[in-house]
Amino acid sequence: MQHLLNSRVRDIQISGIRKFFNLVQQYDDAISLTIGQPDFATPEHIKAAGKQAIDQNRTTYTPNAGLQALREAASTFVAQKYGLCYDAASEVIVTNGASEAIDIAFRTILEEGSEVILPGPVYPGYEPIIRLCGAVPVYVDTRHTDFKMTAALIGEKITEHTRCVILPYPSNPTGCTLEQKGIEEIAELLAGKEIFIISDEIYSELIYGETHRSIATLSTMREQTIVINGLSKSHSMTGWRIGFTFAPAYITEQMVKVHQYNATCASSISQYAALTALTEGINDAQAMKDEYDKRRVYVYERLTKMGLEVVKPDGAFYIFPSIKKFGLSSFDFALRLLEEQRVAVVPGDAFSSYGEGYIRISYAYAMDVLEEGLDRLEAFLVLNK
Ligand SMILES: Cc1ncc(COP(=O)(O)O)c(C=O)c1O
Repeated sequence: MQHLLNSRVRDIQISGIRKFFNLVQQYDDAISLTIGQPDFATPEHIKAAGKQAIDQNRTTYTPNAGLQALREAASTFVAQKYGLCYDAASEVIVTNGASEAIDIAFRTILEEGSEVILPGPVYPGYEPIIRLCGAVPVYVDTRHTDFKMTAALIGEKITEHTRCVILPYPSNPTGCTLEQKGIEEIAELLAGKEIFIISDEIYSELIYGETHRSIATLSTMREQTIVINGLSKSHSMTGWRIGFTFAPAYITEQMVKVHQYNATCASSISQYAALTALTEGINDAQAMKDEYDKRRVYVYERLTKMGLEVVKPDGAFYIFPSIKKFGLSSFDFALRLLEEQRVAVVPGDAFSSYGEGYIRISYAYAMDVLEEGLDRLEAFLVLNK
C-alpha cells in the first residue's frame, strides 16, 4: 500500500537538523551545539499565566484567529517595537508556532507551479511546504553577499511564475540580517509586482546592535507582505507553540480559513500565557539577548582565531563558519567531529545545497558548554590541518 501514499509527502525528507540531532543522541558524552532553541526557561510570569488559565478553566476553544486581547497585544507589540501597523481584528492570526504560520501563508498564496524565491542557505522549514503545495523553490545564491538577499539577486530569478519571495531575517542558519538600504532596494524591485513577500521575523527580538527592520513598514510593500513572527525564540516558548501572521485583511481573511480547518485555534492555555508575554513581558528578550550577545562575540572570536572564515552574525543565535579548506563535505566534517571529539554541529547542507562547505553552530548554550565545545573543535582542526 505504500505506493498509494501521497507522492509529494513521500518525496519530502526529514530535516537534516533532526537527522543529525538523532545521531548525536547515540553518543552520551557528546557536547551538542546543534539545537535552535533558547537555553533559558520560559519567564516565571508567563508560566504562572499558563497555570492560572488551567485553574480558571480557560481550556475551551478560542476564536479561530485567537483571543482578541492577544491579537491586540501582538499588534501593539509589533507597532511599538518595529513600527508595523496591523488591525488586531482583521489582520492578525494566532497560529501554532511560526511553523503553522508558514504553512497557512504558503497554502493561501501558492498554486501548482508557482515559483518561490528564497535565499540559500536557508531554514529548512520552507521547501517541504512549498513542494506540498505543488510549487517550486527557486534558490538565490547568497554565499557571496554575506548571506543577504539583494534586489539584483532576486531580480535575476523573477519569471512570470514567481509568486513569492521569502525574506527570513535575522537568518537561521547564518545570523545575518538586512540593512535598511537593502530592504528599500528590494522593495523598489517588488513594489506593485504580483509577487507576495513572506517576511519571517521570528528572530526579530534577537538582534544585536541595530534595531530590527521589517519590509512591511514600507507603505509600498505592506499590501503584498505577510509578516510571520512568534514567541518561540523571543520568550523562550518553543513548546508552547505560539506564532502569528500579520497581513492585510484581504490575505488574512483567506489565511484564517486554512488555519481554521487545520488547527481550529492555538492552545487556549498557551494563548493566555502569550498574552502575559506580550503585555507584562514585552522586554523579556532583553536579558537573554545580552547573554547571547556575549556568547556571539566569544564564539566569533574563537572561530576567527582558529583561522575559520566566518561572517559575524547580527542576530538570532547561530553562526555559520566555512569549513571548505578542510576538503571534507559538511556531513563528513560534522560526523568526524562528532566521532573524534564528541562535538555535534549541524552540517551546512541541512540548509539547502548552498550550505555545503559550512557548519552551523548554535550558541544557545551556556558559556562553559561553548568553551568546551570550541576547545574540542580547535583540537579537531589542529589534527586535521
Ligand atoms: C527561521 C525560522 N522560522 C520559523 C521557525 C519555527 O518556529 P516555531 O517554533 O515558532 O514554529 C524557526 C525555528 O527554528 C526558524 O528558525
